[in-house]
Amino acid sequence: MTNETAPKTARLSLGDQEIELPVMVGAEGEMAIDIRKLRAQTGAVTFDPGLGNTGACTSNITFLDGEKGILRHAGYPIEELANQSSFLEVMWLLLHQELPLKTELDSFTHDITHHTMMHEDLKRLFASLPKAGHPMAVCAAAVGALSTFYQKEGPKTPEQNWIDAIRLLAKMPTIAAYCYKHSIGQPLMYPRNDLSYAANLLYMMFGTPCEAYEPNPVTARALDLLLILHADHEQNCSTSTVRTVGSSGANLFSSVSAGISALWGPLHGGANQAVIEMLMSIRDGERSAREFMELAKQKDSGVRLMGFGHRVYKNYDPRAKILKSACDDVLGQLGKRDPLLDIAQELEQIALEDSYFVERKLYPNVDFYSGIIYKALGIPTDMFTVFFAIGRMPGWISQWLEFQADPDKRITRPRQIYTGATPRSYQKVEGR
Ligand SMILES: CC(C)(COP(=O)(O)OP(=O)(O)OC[C@H]1O[C@@H](n2cnc3c(N)ncnc32)[C@H](O)[C@@H]1OP(=O)(O)O)[C@@H](O)C(=O)NCCC(=O)NCCS
Repeated sequence: MTNETAPKTARLSLGDQEIELPVMVGAEGEMAIDIRKLRAQTGAVTFDPGLGNTGACTSNITFLDGEKGILRHAGYPIEELANQSSFLEVMWLLLHQELPLKTELDSFTHDITHHTMMHEDLKRLFASLPKAGHPMAVCAAAVGALSTFYQKEGPKTPEQNWIDAIRLLAKMPTIAAYCYKHSIGQPLMYPRNDLSYAANLLYMMFGTPCEAYEPNPVTARALDLLLILHADHEQNCSTSTVRTVGSSGANLFSSVSAGISALWGPLHGGANQAVIEMLMSIRDGERSAREFMELAKQKDSGVRLMGFGHRVYKNYDPRAKILKSACDDVLGQLGKRDPLLDIAQELEQIALEDSYFVERKLYPNVDFYSGIIYKALGIPTDMFTVFFAIGRMPGWISQWLEFQADPDKRITRPRQIYTGATPRSYQKVEGR
C-alpha cells in the first residue's frame, strides 16, 4: 500500500452515527487508522488489551514484518548488519538512523570507550545488595541509581541527553560485570580502554587482578554478534515501557531502569534463561523432549515451549535463523559440543511438524538459540538476560530520544473499560 493507493479515510458506523477517520500509511506500506479524535467524536474508545493492534507512535528506527520474517534497522537488513557491521556501528545507526562516516565512528568509539568507568561511590550500592539477588534486579537498581550521579533540576537539553546516552551505553558493560563479580564475591575489575566493547566486557566478567586475562577473539566476535541481534526490536514490552516512563518527563536513566525490569520477565528477555533451564531439565531426564512438547500444548499445564512464539513474528524470527547457524559455528570454533543444541534442534523439529505449533504459527524466537551461545561463551545462566539488556540498550536509548524529539508526543495514559460496581452508598463498618 502506498499513500496514493491507500484509502484516505476509514468509515465507522456506531449506532446512527457515521464518522470518517484518517488513514496513515507507513514507509513500508503498513496502514493505520488514526483514532485520535474518536472519543471526542463518538464518546467511544478502542479496546485492545496487550496493544497488539495499536500503533502508539511513529518511528524511523526499526521496521519489522512479522508475516514475512523481516527485520531492518533504518532500512538495513539485520542479516547484513549481523554479517558485516559491529555493535558500536549499529548503536550509531539506531541513534542517527544513518551509518556513520569513518570519522564519526572513530569519535563515537572514543567517546564510548572513555566513559566506561563508574563513579567509585556506586560500588557501595552493589555491596549493599544480597549476593544471591538476581543480577537483573541489581542491574535495574544500578542503572536507576546513575540518575543520582548525573542529575539536573528540570528537563535536560538535547546535548545533555546525548551525554547521558553515551554514559549509559559505555557504563552498561561495567555495571553488568559488577553485577556478576558481586554475586561471586570477586573484586570488581576496572574497564580496559585498549579493548573492544565486547572484549572489554569479557575482560571485566572473567578477569581477576591476580593474573593476566586476554579475551578470546572468537568469543568477543560471537558476543558482538549477539549484541547486534538484540539491539532494537521496535515497540516491544521493554521499549514501550521506556517510552511510557519517558513520556512523563522522567530522565533517561530512570526510564531505562524501568525497561530493564520489563525485560526481566520470562515472557520477554527472561525467556533466554528459561530456555536453557528447559533444555537442561530435558537433558537431565526430568522428561523427554516429546513429553515436554505434549505438556506445552496443554493449556492448564502452565508449561510453554520457551523461546517459541512471538507477538509479531508469525514466521521464523530472522534473528533466530542467524543464531541457529552461529551456534554451529561458535561451538565448532570454540571446540565445545553441547548436547543442549541437539535437544533444541529436536524440539524445533517436533514443533515444526506438530499441528499445534504450525497452526498457531509458533516458530523459534531470538531466545531459543541465544542461550546456547551464551553458555558456550561461559556466561552464567542468570546473566543471560543482563546480556540481552546490554544489547537492547541502544534501542531503548534511541527510542527514548526519538520520543523526546517527537512534536506529537503526549504522556502515555490509556483509557479503560470500567467493569466494577456501579454507584452505591458507604456504610459504616458496624452496619455492614
Ligand atoms: C512470546 C509470547 C509471549 C507471545 O504471546 P502472544 O502474542 O500474547 O501470543 P499468545 O500467548 O496469545 O499465543 C497464541 C497461541 O499460541 C499458544 N502459544 C504461544 N506461545 C506458546 C509457547 N511458547 N508454547 C506453547 N503454546 C504457545 C498460546 O497458548 C495461544 O494458544 P491459543 O490460541 O490456543 O489460546 C508467547 O509466544 C510466549 O509465551 N512464548 C514463550 C516465551 C518466549 O519465548 N518469550 C520470548 C519472546 S521474544
